Amino acid sequence: MTNLKQNSNGPKKKVIKFQTVRGMRDILPDDQPYWNKIRKTVDKIASDYNYNRIDTPIVEMVNLFERTTGKGTDVVEKEMYKFETQSGKKVSLRPEGTPSVVRAYIEHGMKTKPSPVKLFYIGPMFRYDRPQKGRYREFFQFGFEAIGEQDPILDAQIIQTALRIFNSIGINKIELQVNSIGCKECRPNYDKLLTSYLKNRSRSLCMNCKNRLESNPLRVLDCKEEKCTQIVAQAPQSVDHLCTDCKKHFTYLLECLDELKITYSINPHLVRGLDYYTKTVFELWAHDDEEGRIALGGGGRYDYLIEKLGGKKTPAVGFAAGMDRLVDAMKDRGIKGVKTSKPKVFLAQLGDLAKMKSLLIFQGLERAGIPVAESFGRGNLKAQLKKANQLGVDLVLIIGQRESLDETVIVKDMLGGNQEVVILEKVVVAIKKKLEKIKKEVRIK
Ligand code: HAM
Repeated sequence: MTNLKQNSNGPKKKVIKFQTVRGMRDILPDDQPYWNKIRKTVDKIASDYNYNRIDTPIVEMVNLFERTTGKGTDVVEKEMYKFETQSGKKVSLRPEGTPSVVRAYIEHGMKTKPSPVKLFYIGPMFRYDRPQKGRYREFFQFGFEAIGEQDPILDAQIIQTALRIFNSIGINKIELQVNSIGCKECRPNYDKLLTSYLKNRSRSLCMNCKNRLESNPLRVLDCKEEKCTQIVAQAPQSVDHLCTDCKKHFTYLLECLDELKITYSINPHLVRGLDYYTKTVFELWAHDDEEGRIALGGGGRYDYLIEKLGGKKTPAVGFAAGMDRLVDAMKDRGIKGVKTSKPKVFLAQLGDLAKMKSLLIFQGLERAGIPVAESFGRGNLKAQLKKANQLGVDLVLIIGQRESLDETVIVKDMLGGNQEVVILEKVVVAIKKKLEKIKKEVRIK
């Protein structure tokens, strides 16, 4: 944004106001406790369910996503941030994590590891969509991928993992929608049936769906346009046209969910917006978000993806969740985040020698695991004590010119108001004792 401002020396000067790029945002310190809670929970549950962390680059080759997420999908066709490198390579900012994890699985020969290879990731994704609440151009996902197992029990476990994370964060009312979209055996037959049904009614479909009819008829089921939803309501459903193997797979998954007492609804129109899914697809919605409902997460099986990227035929299943949306859901429900430890001690100093000694004291306290705040830049003792008060610390250590020469420190108890002089060498032990005592007194009260 450019503003014209009067320069004190005369002519008006252009002032450039720098702002975040549309659809991107800063996550400020006040919001970090929410993000910390999600990150901590994801780490804990990943470890409980034996997933290992993987970090892949934010920039990947464009054709990785064209081949996997799918050339005809909105994500690849309309929403990818693409650019050319200096050497002319076509790269893009990743719009999702699954293709990169699969690429890494093949590139690093992970097929030799015990199956399934369980990987999880946390990081930024980029989609050039219309920004609105819960939809950003840079957003964060955590995702879980289990590669190398075709048993539907893994589908159930991945859903269980997702729900466990949401519940541990404090988001309990989750609506789970599941569907099966078949495999290479039964999908072509269903696609034909669906296309023929839709073609007979194509005049009433929206423009987008008319195009989708040719490229990917399944996506018509996902359309939110009123006239399309009316047609879709009577359309043939994939669950009624599954081959024996897919039917068995889906039935077993539903039995597992029943066994786990996980409530679900079968949504025969759930197809998801990415091309690689086979058999199971699912989505997790915030249950009480009636208006402008937004999916918190989604996933499914992708049994052909590893092969498609040049690996051996390897089944896989996974899910990802939107962290920005989870933070919003936490705020809406009044769920608190995880605060970093509050300082118990404030270190105030006066004079250059005292400042130097303070560095040493700070190091001693930090190594002893005592959270300590300081204000090395401020010379004025009054201002430093004001800051200590604002932080609500239990003790203030004051070291001035005299104390630095005497190798002592003044320890002021902020609750009782009394103070004493402690030898510098023994300050860490003395502070530890005092904090213990204060803790006990608070407990008794
Ligand atoms: P997805 O459904 O495209 O799936 O994204 C997963 C979640 O990311 C969504 O449910 C939503 O919470 C969040 N999300 C997506 N787009 C945005 C956005 N523009 N702003 C904020 N949040 C957003 C995938 O990405 C698949 N890779 C999931 C998967 C993993 N399937 C198998 N393994």
